[in-house]
Amino acid sequence: MRVLVVGGGGREHTLVWKIAKSPLVDDIFCTPGNGGTEEIANNIEIKAEDIGSLLQFAKKERIDLTVVGPEAPLVNGITDAFKGEELNIFGPSKDAAIIEGSKAFAKKLMKRVGVQQAGFQEFSDAKNAITYLREQHFPIVIKASGLAAGKGVIIANNIDEAEKTVHDIMVNKRFGKAGTIIIIEEFLKGEEVSLLVLTDGEAVLPFLSSQDHKQVYDNDRGPNTGGMGAYAPAPVLNKEEAGKVIDRIILPVLSGLRKEGVSYTGVLYAGLMITDDDTKVLEFNCRFGDPEIQAIMPLCNSDLVEALLMSLNGELKSARIEWNDGSAVCVVLASGGYPVKYEKGKEIEGLESFKGKENVILFHAGTKKENGRLLTAGGRVLGVTGMGSNLKEAIETTYSAVREITFEGMHFRKDIGRKGLVREKSLLSK
Ligand code: AMP
Ligand code: GLY
Repeated sequence: MRVLVVGGGGREHTLVWKIAKSPLVDDIFCTPGNGGTEEIANNIEIKAEDIGSLLQFAKKERIDLTVVGPEAPLVNGITDAFKGEELNIFGPSKDAAIIEGSKAFAKKLMKRVGVQQAGFQEFSDAKNAITYLREQHFPIVIKASGLAAGKGVIIANNIDEAEKTVHDIMVNKRFGKAGTIIIIEEFLKGEEVSLLVLTDGEAVLPFLSSQDHKQVYDNDRGPNTGGMGAYAPAPVLNKEEAGKVIDRIILPVLSGLRKEGVSYTGVLYAGLMITDDDTKVLEFNCRFGDPEIQAIMPLCNSDLVEALLMSLNGELKSARIEWNDGSAVCVVLASGGYPVKYEKGKEIEGLESFKGKENVILFHAGTKKENGRLLTAGGRVLGVTGMGSNLKEAIETTYSAVREITFEGMHFRKDIGRKGLVREKSLLSK
């Protein structure tokens, strides 16, 4: 088979790395890819958002399967465009990907099917939103309904912050059209966890649970990033609890979509908050999570391509995935200044010693090769994933690998996985 992976971050390197292991696969292309995918795939300089050029490329190169990394092309209909030309593509259609493309849609769908979530109101008028906010308790959460590259959620601690946020989004149009509609929702307290499932619209095949670390500094301080690290599985959502999430959240949502004539094929990512009394949905994404997938995939002992094909063909009910019993931890190495302003083009050193190592994998995100040197080319540069027979061991393996790698300005969180250790202890003492 000839496979195309769309995107160029750590998630896409992970997908390319895993797809390359499939006996079904002969050639892999990655658009645009990065310095890591270059080693196992053919990087092709086409942007992930350029659906027309991607379609042309897939036709010309007789691609048998396209796997889409980022949300934007899915929300903009890449799947419909490929299917229109009878090309096989893994990812939801436009009318299914709206579950990520419109938070207002997702919230109303959850309400219709009775899924637990934060209480909310939707607004398309700034004045009405502010009048409503004046009567609320703080903190409160304000979200741009559309896609805002992960930056569209603001937690306002008082009415002044809230008014400024509404003004910024709706009047100054900070997120453009994505902020035409906003959601104001209840602030939930608890521990966050992600559950990703493959689905063919009816059956689901869950991945291991995982936990992202969105804020830039240790102990969840500082501004949000694209994700500074992840580990899997997350003890806060064990197999039994994940089963409940599937029964009470995932299946009702899929059946609600089906009732409205929408069959969801692809990955469905549920961002969850485990509160003291319940598990509630924070958001749905229509794609693999990044960096979560960098911790999940190294633990997957089955052929991912086979599972993706079964999902595409509506055969997921009889699919199985075997998981490694251990744990994996991914620590993201970021450029100095990220997530605000950062420089690129710094030489990365220390990667050679990892070639052939079984328990450490380097997933590239913002890297590029230039004249034989590996340079930084983005905010998140590398994901270092280490494995172990348990979480503690995986943390140790990962951080001892991190210590070998350097580039000017490099920074990373030192506490990835720590929440999992705390949770394990509290479960043991129960
Ligand atoms: P989302 O894009 O909806 O996942 O939001 C991004 C981040 O904002 C989440 O990962 C949470 O950390 C935080 N967040 C979103 N909604 C809420 C909420 N209702 N209560 C508390 N935190 C939230
Ligand atoms: N890890 C968060 C995301 O993929 O949206």
